Amino acid sequence: MLRKTQPGRRGLGGGLRLYHRLVAKKIGILTAGGDSPGLNAAIRAVGKAAIRAHGMTVIGFKDGFRGLMENRYIQLESDDLSGILTRGGTVLGTSRTNCTKVEMPDGTVIDGRTEMARVIEEHQIDALVCLGGDGTAKNAIKLESVGVQVLTLPKTIDNDVVGTDVTFGFDTAVNIATEAIDRLHSTAHSHHRIMVVELMGHTVGWLALGAGLAGGADVILIPEIPHDVDTVAKSIVARKEAGSTFSIAAVAEGAISAENAAKRAEMVPEKAKATGERKATLKRALVEFDKANVGGTSDLAKKLSDLTGLESRLTILGHVQRGGTPTPADRLLATRLGTACADFIAAGIHGVMIAARGQDTIAVPLDEVAGQTRAVPVDHSWVLSARRLGISLGD
Ligand code: F6P
Repeated sequence: MLRKTQPGRRGLGGGLRLYHRLVAKKIGILTAGGDSPGLNAAIRAVGKAAIRAHGMTVIGFKDGFRGLMENRYIQLESDDLSGILTRGGTVLGTSRTNCTKVEMPDGTVIDGRTEMARVIEEHQIDALVCLGGDGTAKNAIKLESVGVQVLTLPKTIDNDVVGTDVTFGFDTAVNIATEAIDRLHSTAHSHHRIMVVELMGHTVGWLALGAGLAGGADVILIPEIPHDVDTVAKSIVARKEAGSTFSIAAVAEGAISAENAAKRAEMVPEKAKATGERKATLKRALVEFDKANVGGTSDLAKKLSDLTGLESRLTILGHVQRGGTPTPADRLLATRLGTACADFIAAGIHGVMIAARGQDTIAVPLDEVAGQTRAVPVDHSWVLSARRLGISLGD
């Protein structure tokens, strides 16, 4: 049977052929890494399109790559995929398992790829769809290296995956965080307080910047723009002198002071130059340094209070930002990427992440995605808007 590909969709290296031959295939789906709103919408989209449009058989592996290695799976029929569009989390479960470093119950760590490839072979699966972020792209490349044909879809509330305009989960998290900031406004106003709200985002500031801007925060601190606490305090004092006796500071969990950023900047090239055991030591030191930086919001709230004479309170939104039903925008994105993924599989394409690029839905080679992080450009339009509004970015 021949079917025309969807208009406006481009493939690898100059585009998909206009017509492709449909063959019945069997696919596996798994969700990996931290969960994210929109995962179920994506599972539904891949599964239903694979079954209905391409006559494929679909199974879902439980709990990410760990479940794949342990061969824990469920058969997914069209009916099983109904009613999950609006559900938060992932019906398949997830884990942060690294394919080449799987921790066993006895404490040993093994390379799980051979076993994972064997499970794929046993089920006669033609393509494995992995829903995840950068870490999942890395795992996907590792599985491709042992002959498993993998495609990924970009999910994460952090919005830090390169190669796609946006990841699903981000819009929902921005909505949740914006609502929190809206609610903090009235209590901040009543008590003439500084409200520091810590938002997720790992090492990037998309979520804090997006929600801070949408929620009308007075201060937004993101990792990409190292801050100086005195500068932030001055902006709050200036607001107080102008008659606004409260301030809201939206702070990314990875936000970093200029002082710490300078120390970090010295560590990174040193690690890059080093080899062997020294490199491993410096890598560990960097990980420890970054861990110590997380949680700095409590200290920040206290310092701002001391420097401004205003009371401060800290709210850490945490995993609330990952919970609950996805927004319509995330449902649409997950559905668009998921259905396109089924088409790419039918066309025999693998080793790619299915990405949103403007109006197009394209396949990006995994090696252009893995191991990279999409940070907020310091000249991004959201940053420029914040500056024009007089929001303090702490620099
Ligand atoms: O990557 C998504 C994310 O929510 C980050 O924003 C956050 O730093 C991390 O996951 C938290 O991970 P965990 O759920 O394992 O605590």
